[in-house]
Amino acid sequence: EEEETLAMVKPDGVLGNYTERIKNAVVESGFSIIRETVIQLDEHRASTFYVEHSSKSFFSSLVKYMTSGPVLVMILKKENAVADWRAIIGPTDARKAKITHPHSIRAMCGLNAEKNCVHGSDSLESARREISFFFGEISTDAKNLCK
Ligand code: CMP
Repeated sequence: EEEETLAMVKPDGVLGNYTERIKNAVVESGFSIIRETVIQLDEHRASTFYVEHSSKSFFSSLVKYMTSGPVLVMILKKENAVADWRAIIGPTDARKAKITHPHSIRAMCGLNAEKNCVHGSDSLESARREISFFFGEISTDAKNLCK
């Protein structure tokens, strides 16, 4: 069944001119780009997006990184989109990706565990939340909470 996932080119990817190469990989891997937008996250928006990491030691550094320049956000669609996009981007730590997944996107343009140049939703549930975060009005989950 067709799925949608949220992909993002992070500030280091955009500023390092990796956008075209990443979009080529997206299309060559059979994804359709349903929506895309380039935005500058502010501190509040970046903190909200990564709220599940708010207690981690790297949180403030992560927010600083994610607000350091514009990001490209895309909704990608295909069968098994969530898992397939995660496989194509490779492991979180780009330094490890260069060794274990040399053909992955993070191996191509990432630097380390933080500056890993791309994002992919980690589950269908996260994908729904993240897609409405960037493209929706109010998410279904939020609507249910408001009932
Ligand atoms: P991502 O998996 O897209 O979402 C969470 C982000 O937190 C991750 O990418 C990295 O950018 C960052 N991150 C994850 N682990 C670490 C870490 N150990 N040190 C610093 N940043 C991290």
